[in-house]
Amino acid sequence: MVIGGPKDIEALFRIGKIVANCLKHMSLEMKPGMTTLELDLIGAKFLKDAGARSAPRIVYDFPGDTCISVNEEAAHGVPGKKILNDGDLVNIDVSAELDGYFADTGGSFPCGTADESLLKLCAATREALAAGIREARAGRKISRIGRAIETVARDGGYSIIRNLGSHGVGRGLHEEPKFIAGYFDKADRRLLERGMVITIEPFLSTGTDWVEEGDDGWTLGAALGQRHAQYEHTMAITDGEPILFTLPD
Ligand code: CO
Ligand code: CO
Repeated sequence: MVIGGPKDIEALFRIGKIVANCLKHMSLEMKPGMTTLELDLIGAKFLKDAGARSAPRIVYDFPGDTCISVNEEAAHGVPGKKILNDGDLVNIDVSAELDGYFADTGGSFPCGTADESLLKLCAATREALAAGIREARAGRKISRIGRAIETVARDGGYSIIRNLGSHGVGRGLHEEPKFIAGYFDKADRRLLERGMVITIEPFLSTGTDWVEEGDDGWTLGAALGQRHAQYEHTMAITDGEPILFTLPD
């Protein structure tokens, strides 16, 4: 969507705060020994209490309120019987709707004891998100976001998952501009417009540049042993720094 006025901004802040606080709450409640379903139910309750509806559930009929992807899984992990172990890397993605407005956020968190190499991957991915946000300005090419992300990934010795990208959001979960690459795509001539609402969500990996759908028809993952991280914010493009809607309290 493109912001039409203050009403749109207020509504995006409302749902943005809800998903951001839900993500933070889930990341703090996550413990080794818990199943991904138990973690999802914590998120489901948070969204329900806030009056919001899970976006993947209402838009795609996703079998969960949040997406929880563990270790070699990168995205769209289905909450279930899987038990979280000490040292796992867990990605939680929370998107939801309130009053017809959508916001989308996500993050990767080590469960229990964090291995040094996972902390390094997470730090590089946060840095890639920050670098992408710095490039996101009205009038610039969309491809500058991917170029900035790719530079940070390469400097850290990581690959970019090329078939997962950022996207327009606001009145739906996935809108125009569709698929904003996390790498430099020089063929992408699209420009960022003032008021455009997008996510930025880099996916950095220890080795893979492509993820495949699992047997459940949802989970996108790679070979055993690979680790990936993602952090995501929903924001509006301006002539200066973007307005971030998904910062937690
Ligand atoms: Co997301
Ligand atoms: Co997203």
